Amino acid sequence: MNLKTLDQADLSGKKILLRADLNVPIKNGQITDTTRIEGIKATVDFILKAGASLAICSHLGRPDGQPNPEFSLEQIAGTLAKILETKVVFVNDCITPNISELLSTDHILLLENTRFHTEEEANDAEFSAKLATPFDIFVNDAFGTTHRAHATTEGITHHLPSYAGLLIQKEVEAMSPLLSDCPKPLTVLIGGAKIDTKIGIIKNFIGKADNILIGGALANTFLLAKGYNVGKSLVEEDKVELAQEIMMEADNQGTSLLVPADVILADQISADAETVNLPPEDITSNMLILDIGANTTSDYATIIKASHTVIANGPMGLYEHAPFSNGTISTLQAMADCQGTTIIGGGDSIDAMNKYGINEKEFNHVSTGGGAMIEFLEGKVLPGIKPLLS
Ligand code: 3PG
Repeated sequence: MNLKTLDQADLSGKKILLRADLNVPIKNGQITDTTRIEGIKATVDFILKAGASLAICSHLGRPDGQPNPEFSLEQIAGTLAKILETKVVFVNDCITPNISELLSTDHILLLENTRFHTEEEANDAEFSAKLATPFDIFVNDAFGTTHRAHATTEGITHHLPSYAGLLIQKEVEAMSPLLSDCPKPLTVLIGGAKIDTKIGIIKNFIGKADNILIGGALANTFLLAKGYNVGKSLVEEDKVELAQEIMMEADNQGTSLLVPADVILADQISADAETVNLPPEDITSNMLILDIGANTTSDYATIIKASHTVIANGPMGLYEHAPFSNGTISTLQAMADCQGTTIIGGGDSIDAMNKYGINEKEFNHVSTGGGAMIEFLEGKVLPGIKPLLS
């Protein structure tokens, strides 16, 4: 995959629009994870050092095409200025006519949430042209949004010379080898709540991966598909047949697809819940599966440590509560201890990593993409990356 990279662009004296993914988690007005902001610093430094003036645009949340203070990017302007170590001027509409006059090498502009306009997600051509008007060059560094064909990821590339930022370059360089040839054994650890969002990546690695290890609530559907009673656990009954097909396909293609051989159960979700560790055949109808069990955790950790490549997306259990966090922490720790190449992504996995003090430097690559990482690893050419290819 050959990208048009920043070193191929003549940036000096130019007006640059940078698409970032500033869709960061915010709780009670506080940004709880700044990974995505830190991720664009190298690109911003590169552009400013080249003597260009810069505006950054992004979405935040899903405001449905309407201005809404809850989703205003103004609330992240201060943190952005601190992390990027530069003056930030906030502009309250991404297509306001005076952007050109506000552009300066003395500060960067932060444009208001692009999703305050319905035309952004509709990838409207006229809106894309308006966005492009004040600028000479478009740089996309929003890896986390490259799976969306929106005006600021795809449409605008029809109006401006377009380049990949250093974050997109890093993500693509780290993950492209996984699509063809990577050191074996290859293990893919998949967790999280829903089969639907993970089905593509599981299917893509059947036949390629040596092991696919399933955890999280999506494992419950696999257990149901194997004929176990899963009590009151979260399941997708309409995906049982799909889970059966996946297990059969993995079997046919020589990929060892493992589902939990034991699980952590409780009768309620709370930080002080009483738990039991049982094999699935002993689950009774008033119980909830909330983590992978001790034997499964130990088996998964052994497989991970013996692998030469490990890809992980999604937590193994309800890690937010201590009684259900062991599966997630231990598998992350096993990745940190693994001597092979380790790649992790997904908001919850990164949150768990930070929450339980596992240093991101222990992994070869921490992807800023959730859905984008998954779709990239499904082998798709993402709509936000396609226009950046040379
Ligand atoms: C993400 O957080 O996955 C990206 O920012 C994309 O957000 P979206 O799922 O709302 O398009």
